Amino acid sequence: MNDFSFEKTILVTGSGGQLGMEIWKLTERYPSYKFLFTTREDLPIDNFELVKNFFEQQQIDCCINCAAYTAVDRAESEKDKAFLINADAAGNLAAICKAHQAQFIHISTDYVFDGTSSTPYKEEDKVSPENVYGASKLRGEELVLNNNSAAVIIRTSWVYSSFGHNFVKTMLRLLTEKESINVVNDQYGSPTYAGDLAAAIMMIVEKEDSENSQTGIFNYCNTGVTTWYEFARAIKKYIKSKCAINPIASSQYPQPAKRPQYSVLDTTKIKETFGITIPKWKDSLHTCLSFLS
Ligand SMILES: NC(=O)c1ccc[n+]([C@@H]2O[C@H](COP(=O)([O-])OP(=O)(O)OC[C@H]3O[C@@H](n4cnc5c(N)ncnc54)[C@H](OP(=O)(O)O)[C@@H]3O)[C@@H](O)[C@H]2O)c1
Repeated sequence: MNDFSFEKTILVTGSGGQLGMEIWKLTERYPSYKFLFTTREDLPIDNFELVKNFFEQQQIDCCINCAAYTAVDRAESEKDKAFLINADAAGNLAAICKAHQAQFIHISTDYVFDGTSSTPYKEEDKVSPENVYGASKLRGEELVLNNNSAAVIIRTSWVYSSFGHNFVKTMLRLLTEKESINVVNDQYGSPTYAGDLAAAIMMIVEKEDSENSQTGIFNYCNTGVTTWYEFARAIKKYIKSKCAINPIASSQYPQPAKRPQYSVLDTTKIKETFGITIPKWKDSLHTCLSFLS
């Protein structure tokens, strides 16, 4: 197929990360789309000149921004870098997409909330990040929407995948190597399998031209609520590990960046708007573990 026969050309930035790799896994399902996957090395999104030239040289119809500064604890001491990538570069991509009439899909986080709620956060609830990473992602949301009101921003939480670094892969290693481990049991959230999120994003890309297409902020996470401790126990059960898991309080596991105590996201809006069905977190965990073990 030459370029003119493709229905859309989709740019996926930060494609070496968890979400980017999961989108890459789905490409076979979309033979009518041409995908351009760029890593930090190919297209550093904080190099504005390079990004501008890239869009001038390629006919991009949609950009899915999977690039982000995701080192939550390191962000506390690298504030400028976190804001450059998560805020300024995201805002720049949004503006360039608007100028080129390309759809822009950006990913944000549950860490824009302070975690004091006891009911799932809706998109319009008050934001108040507790750490630098959350603040940089929130500024990114603001710049994206200021620069491109047609953008779609998806807030997600506790992301894991068979690719990259994440809690599930760390637990698989520890549960195999150690006799006992301590895991925090007083933070509540919803794990998100990046493979499910990737599929949801592709549904939104497909619906772009339809009458149902909507823009703004949407929450996406797998259904159900858990703690890191219960999450670890589900992994242990699946791999039949003998390692003991001890529940501990966050105060017993000090980290540079404060985490929200409760960051469950209400996903009603994305389900109703795009007709997306969201799997239960434990089912998706088993899907991911089936690729890893
Ligand atoms: N992981 C989570 O638990 C979580 C939770 C909520 C929201 N999110 C959001 O979900 C999105 C996807 O996260 P993820 O888990 O897939 O993250 P990830 O695995 O850390 O992937 C991020 C990718 O972005 C790349 N990157 C970093 N700086 C870049 C730059 N300047 N230009 C281009 N690429 C750059 C990274 O490359 P290098 O590895 O080479 O630096 C990495 O490949 C992000 O927006 C993140 O903020 C993640």
